[in-house]
Amino acid sequence: MRSAIEAACRELITDRVPESALREAMLYSVEAGGKRLRPTLYLIHKQSFGSLSLADYRLAAALELIHTYSLIHDDLPAMDNDDLRRGKPTSHKVYGEALAILAGDALLNTALEELFAICRDNPQYIEAGYIISKAAGASGMIYGQVLDIQAQANDLAGLRQIADHKTGALIGAAIEAAAAVSDLEHRDRLLFKQIARDLGFVFQVRDDILDVESSSDILGKSIGKDADQQKVTAASLLGLEDAKKLETYLIEQIQSSLRQIQTVDIEAITAYYDSLYGRKN
Ligand code: IPE
Ligand code: IPE
Ligand code: MG
Ligand code: MG
Ligand code: MG
Repeated sequence: MRSAIEAACRELITDRVPESALREAMLYSVEAGGKRLRPTLYLIHKQSFGSLSLADYRLAAALELIHTYSLIHDDLPAMDNDDLRRGKPTSHKVYGEALAILAGDALLNTALEELFAICRDNPQYIEAGYIISKAAGASGMIYGQVLDIQAQANDLAGLRQIADHKTGALIGAAIEAAAAVSDLEHRDRLLFKQIARDLGFVFQVRDDILDVESSSDILGKSIGKDADQQKVTAASLLGLEDAKKLETYLIEQIQSSLRQIQTVDIEAITAYYDSLYGRKN
């Protein structure tokens, strides 16, 4: 699945972006690596809910482009000011801030172009396109990034609000989009919505833990940045020990919701989730 996602990402960019410094900068960040979480979530759920088609790989690639744009902008000096991403110098370190900003813009726009093209060819994907563009936007991820830089949360509800938006929105959209293009029973669809919400939160809680206790070699990004920048994170708000308890609690919630699923074979989904819990990078 990973190599199919990566091939689809490359094709999407080379098909739509003229050969230029812009294309090079877009490919640099997309091909630097990464877990490919959002496209993999989409594909694993879509496959478990039914079957996969070419449109699904294109949509999965669009999700990864949106995510990669968010990382380029998240790393900019005006945001988290990070020098290392996916084990390589960040986009603005290599290409300068102006091109990094534009490469991020172009990744988002290229993804949206592709989503429109998918919907033009396959009208049953319109709802999925809507779900993804909304999740990436001003009531989803971008809003979460604003809450993150304002860093005003001082309790668990506030922490969750930041994480649900900046991270949970796009992760949730990957799963909800798969449901939207599938014939999924209503009750199971609602359960997957809840699962997606908890999965997004536990993913960010682990990201916060890793910023404290990992190493940049393993993580591929600088560590200790959250404390330097006085971010509100699970680690800063709760302390490492309670952040890990929260992580365990959320994993149990997800597992309990999964047990209630009635009409989907959850084997592949469960195996993939299990590979994410307690991840080291
Ligand atoms: C990093 O996302 C930013 C967060 C939302 C926590 P990932 O941990 O999915 O980053 P890559 O794609 O593997 O580089
Ligand atoms: C980023 O959260 C969320 C995004 C939408 C990119 P972080 O700022 O914690 O992500 P990292 O730790 O830099 O990957
Ligand atoms: Mg950030
Ligand atoms: Mg960051
Ligand atoms: Mg982080």
